[in-house]
Amino acid sequence: MDRIIVRANGELNGSIPISGAKNAALPLMIASLLTSKKLVLENVPRLADVASLMRILSNHGTDHQIKGKQPGQSELSGQTIVFKAKNIVDTTAPYELVSKMRASFWVIGPLLARMGEARVSLPGGCAIGTRPVDLFIESLEALGAEISIENGYALAKAPEGLKGTTYRFPKVSVGATHVMMMAATLAKGTTVINNAAREPEVVNLAECLNAMGAKVSGQGTRTITIEGVKKLHGATHRVVADRIEAGTYAMAAAMAGGDVTLTDVESGLLKTTLDVLEQAGITIEKGENSIRIMRKGTPILPVKVSTEPHPGFPTDCQAQLMALMLKAEGISEITETIFENRFMHVSELARLGAKIALDGQKATITGVDSLAGAPVMATDLRASVSLVIAGLVASGETEIHRVYHLDRGFESLEEKLRNVGANIERVSE
Ligand code: UD1
Repeated sequence: MDRIIVRANGELNGSIPISGAKNAALPLMIASLLTSKKLVLENVPRLADVASLMRILSNHGTDHQIKGKQPGQSELSGQTIVFKAKNIVDTTAPYELVSKMRASFWVIGPLLARMGEARVSLPGGCAIGTRPVDLFIESLEALGAEISIENGYALAKAPEGLKGTTYRFPKVSVGATHVMMMAATLAKGTTVINNAAREPEVVNLAECLNAMGAKVSGQGTRTITIEGVKKLHGATHRVVADRIEAGTYAMAAAMAGGDVTLTDVESGLLKTTLDVLEQAGITIEKGENSIRIMRKGTPILPVKVSTEPHPGFPTDCQAQLMALMLKAEGISEITETIFENRFMHVSELARLGAKIALDGQKATITGVDSLAGAPVMATDLRASVSLVIAGLVASGETEIHRVYHLDRGFESLEEKLRNVGANIERVSE
């Protein structure tokens, strides 16, 4: 299995291109199931999760074609992929495929809307809590589906088609908002989703659905309205930039110090993350489609942050912020409010010399003068990159095992960091 080795190498300087967002690409790819026509997605990141989802979509009968490099593109430019689900030949998403990635469960919405039935394995994915599917089931039932759970599968049926409804999510869920929105595009009548997720990826999906002929409005607010249409058609759509990847490299630059410009990303996508970094004493310059992160010999200041649904501080940047706070001058507090088991990185960071006390969902981090490299284990996607960030300033060698977690969500991580001066390499066995 591959390992990643990081050695401290001073400041980071230069620029890092930000890829398309994994969390937007996945639901956009799934939206291809809603139409028999071509959906062309641009700026799709090269990630293990994207490849896993392509296998799942293929199993339903979707063809895909990856376009070659275009003039002016580099190896780090996003790919253009053409999806075409002319006929859905299979409405089952089997355990072997779905268990690898939770988001693959989301095919349930489009399959149900287009075919009137779906049989989808209950999901797996990152081990960051129990992550139930009750909200998906409840919201699809509100649209008129009949759903039962049998032998680890959700069996959903709507032989007469789905019907528009007004539904309020008792808790904000990104995935359940995506799925209800997709399903409602082909329902009879109007659907109003209250307490919807407001993440940029939800907005990106709504825009794509509209380009496909859907009538979605209110995306980005708490209330999304969808007027059902009979059919959707093809479209060409660009995957929004990955605000979590951008936040991650911003923390890396803040940790190592230096002057790094993140390109191909709009600062508005990660406003709260950048606000927190400013509170931590980092200088930030927002360009039109770039973000400059600077720290030149000034200290990292401690912060007090709670994760929240968007537009709050993202849970997907919590581990990275914790890594940064290991070197803050003082005591920081980070409270995780989204997932109940998302502190698995704490014990690994402790192996590098971190001082972190856990009390339920709250971590108290006492900044230390130095960290020392050690072998550590990646436990989930975002946790693993926090170990890379800590490794950038740890003495000696930080050796990260189980890096397949990183490959699920960070495109060309070593190359992007090496290009700005980090000493990081992958060792394959
Ligand atoms: C998405 C993101 C993930 C991010 C998370 C929160 C993708 C592919 N993944 O995950 O990176 O960390 O949003 O921003 O976009 N919940 C229920 N019942 C449900 C569904 C969710 O109780 O049926 C709970 C979850 O356990 C969690 C909370 O709701 O506590 C929020 O989860 P949700 O927003 O659904 O996360 P995902 O869509 O899985």
